[in-house]
Amino acid sequence: MTPAHTPAKLGVNVDHVATVRQARGTDYPSPLEAAQAAIVGGADQITIHLREDRRHIQTRDVEQIRQQIAVTLNLEMAATDEMVQAALRLRPDTVTLVPEKRRELTTEGGLNAVRGKKRLKKVVDDLQGQGIRVSLFIDPQQKQIDAAHDLGVKIIELHTGRYADATSEVDQAGRQEEILIAARYASSHHFYVAAGHGLNLENIDLIAAMPEIREFNIGHSLVARALFVGIEEATREMKERIHQTLGSPS
Ligand code: PXP
Repeated sequence: MTPAHTPAKLGVNVDHVATVRQARGTDYPSPLEAAQAAIVGGADQITIHLREDRRHIQTRDVEQIRQQIAVTLNLEMAATDEMVQAALRLRPDTVTLVPEKRRELTTEGGLNAVRGKKRLKKVVDDLQGQGIRVSLFIDPQQKQIDAAHDLGVKIIELHTGRYADATSEVDQAGRQEEILIAARYASSHHFYVAAGHGLNLENIDLIAAMPEIREFNIGHSLVARALFVGIEEATREMKERIHQTLGSPS
């Protein structure tokens, strides 16, 4: 297999296990146990978002998961001083910088790497300087990829939310095309390309068929599916789907 045809990795995002716990202020269900079950089901990475308002994942979750999982840990966070200090202490393998608004339900759009270049430069340098890989969660647009390149970042995660939310086949095809063009452009500029947001068993196929995308980070649909089949099985299903689809025409 050429590197481009190595099956994409699956990062399982366990934030919403913590959402259920925080809804009642209990000490269960445990995101750590969920992460461990996801790894048994084939997760290559665990992804968690430490939000400034701590609405789901808490600092102690990051500490526990960091200490007790053997796969890579991808920490999503805002590009703030507080979060940079937290990341330098918690030492995830990768930090994915995301935009964050307190009142949003979930991350609504990609980071504006063009407009935020000055601020991002310091954050990227501080993290990369301490050996933490940095990924930027951006919309599938060439100008954002160019800005990521200028910032010295080697990983991007393409925001698939608009594709996932498309309300017609024509709209979905257009959004798919944007992702494909962006993935090819980024890959030809030597980026490691990840993708995520709103992906589920129904819509993953068209995106998983793009060999330029090397990693998926998936949370909400997996945790929802886990209610019926358990997180280990939900992870296994998604991983099999990604592997089956690889190389299909896109
Ligand atoms: N990737 C990033 C950067 C995200 O912010 C999120 C949401 O936390 C995801 C992936 C996962 O999205 P979803 O929960 O819709 O699968």
